[in-house]
Amino acid sequence: MHARQMITPEKTGVAITDFADLSQAHHELDALFTEHQVALIHFEIEKSLQLLASFRSAIEEHIRFEEEDLIPLYGELGGDNIEGGRVDFYLKEHRKILKLLDVVEEAFSQSSIRRDGDGARRILDILEMEHSLKALLTHHDQREESFLYPFLDKVTSRDQKRTLLSRTDLPIRLRRIAETRGK
Ligand SMILES: [Fe+2]
Ligand SMILES: [Fe+2]
Repeated sequence: MHARQMITPEKTGVAITDFADLSQAHHELDALFTEHQVALIHFEIEKSLQLLASFRSAIEEHIRFEEEDLIPLYGELGGDNIEGGRVDFYLKEHRKILKLLDVVEEAFSQSSIRRDGDGARRILDILEMEHSLKALLTHHDQREESFLYPFLDKVTSRDQKRTLLSRTDLPIRLRRIAETRGK
């Protein structure tokens, strides 16, 4: 895990005390993606690309945390037997999310988007690709919020919960960064 500055929750209004609170990571990721799309439809291409890059690094960090710290424990404690909550569902969806993100980035990298009719059509094409990504994210987040997080809240001890949750401050950092952008 890379070094980063710890940010206090009091300053953002986001606090992670239960696994269920990780839904705030999903909300912050969604908000970041929406900001990227808003910049895109305004032809603010550089800004939209920067926001997309921030989204990628944030979602990779979230996925890494889930795959290294949460899902193995969830599997060990019996979560894999939950209908709709099998370990491989989460893992396959993570791979698919990252693949769709590759497709979107590839669409941007073909050539620069100009502020004209062709550019507008390219943006429409990209928004359609992004629609598939957003639909998958919604589905995946619902699965985790229905099975992964509540199960871990039920089966972990208070100490285990505290230790595991201290390993992520992503929702707090994302909120803080969004606030500095005035969102
Ligand atoms: Fe996930
Ligand atoms: Fe998640």
